[in-house]
Amino acid sequence: MSNERSSFSNRIGFVLAAAGSAVGLGNIWRFPYLAAKYGGGIFLLVYVILAVTFGFALMVTEIAIGRKTGLSAIEAYKKLDKRFSFIGVLSTIVPIIIFPYYCVIGGWVVKYFVTFLTGQGLAAAGGEYFNNFIAQPISPVLWLTVYVVLTSLVVMCGVEKGIEKASRIMMPVLVVLALVIVVFVLCMPGAWEGVKYYITPNFKDFSVTTVLAAMGQMFYSMSLAMGIMITYGSYMKKDDNLETSVHQIELFDTGIAVLAGLMIVPAVFVFSGGDKAALSAGPGLMFITLPKVFESMPMGGFVGAVFFLLVLFAALTSSISLMETIVSILQDKLHWKRMTTCLIVMFGAILIGVPSSLGFGVWDCVSIFGMSILDFFDFLSNSVLMPIVALLTCIFVGWVLKTKVIADEVKSSAPFRLEKLHHVVIRYIAPFFLIAILVSSILSAMGWISI
Ligand code: PHE
Repeated sequence: MSNERSSFSNRIGFVLAAAGSAVGLGNIWRFPYLAAKYGGGIFLLVYVILAVTFGFALMVTEIAIGRKTGLSAIEAYKKLDKRFSFIGVLSTIVPIIIFPYYCVIGGWVVKYFVTFLTGQGLAAAGGEYFNNFIAQPISPVLWLTVYVVLTSLVVMCGVEKGIEKASRIMMPVLVVLALVIVVFVLCMPGAWEGVKYYITPNFKDFSVTTVLAAMGQMFYSMSLAMGIMITYGSYMKKDDNLETSVHQIELFDTGIAVLAGLMIVPAVFVFSGGDKAALSAGPGLMFITLPKVFESMPMGGFVGAVFFLLVLFAALTSSISLMETIVSILQDKLHWKRMTTCLIVMFGAILIGVPSSLGFGVWDCVSIFGMSILDFFDFLSNSVLMPIVALLTCIFVGWVLKTKVIADEVKSSAPFRLEKLHHVVIRYIAPFFLIAILVSSILSAMGWISI
């Protein structure tokens, strides 16, 4: 079976595809707004430290599990130890939950891109445009369908010809687009005040919750604890340098997040006349505040179209990785043909996405623990399941399987320079922090503490 497994053509192809998965909506709207909320420079610093320690250790672990077994999550854990195949099952549930609602947001992005491209940006900047749009029964579902079909077309073409090729084109373009916007934004009068606010460490905004928020963001942003890196690892060549690849993926992911902050924070800052509250608009930041900011800028229609194209590329490479993970699990388990599997997942995603999409309109009476349907799925996957999967993975690898097995896989292609760090983080430090994240996110959902 593993002989016929497809693979990326070389290491750079692998790095771009994995970075494509990591760089997504999380980097572009979530990171800047968290950084602005949790103390600017101090958040950046905490985030980078966590990424190069925790993020590094977990990513190495997942990719090594994938490459060692040549299988996707469920079968991979089973092969390592039968008693722990349930970790694979749990981690598979995460992309199945995320994929449909991620596509709902992806559909909104396509809609906004088309709106700006066709010169209607001014309308999108109008007060109630976004809320009216997502409340409609048909239009968001149509855009959801367009987005799912786009994603599926790439996945249908396979690992090398679809995913790798798409990432090789979209990822470099994404970096260029991001730089174009940063230059535009920084040329606006008053923008440097925003930059200062973004990068200056603000110690009074620092607290334990800063660390927890940074950690939660890091797992999501690096696409960890959901079987994705296991699947991608299973397509990695045995002689490619695993450790260097992980460093490059991290650099890409963190670099784009920091750049996104450099384009969004100063732009919103100038627009709002230095009002910090405008930055904490959450999801509304990207679809409500930013269109207004663009329309107030010279050549704003153009900048808006470029921005939403960038967001679209970032989102597409991520949803491709989500869909590939689901497809590869079904294929490993049921031995279906790739095309059949892709079609089934495509229709399934549209169907399951519909309730999340309607949750802002026809079904807005549905509320689960006080959240909309989409927000609930987001909470369930990111704040509950992901920390649980990451915790179980660390316990399994650190205490049962032993980190040496992972280290040996890394060393099969090159020396493992940070082997000690990997061992200590997986076995001792990560489990402790993961329990803290889990407890705090549940307490905050119950309304007992605020994060
Ligand atoms: N890592 C992606 C981001 O930063 C999110 C993502 C989550 C991608 C789950 C794939 C799977 O937006």
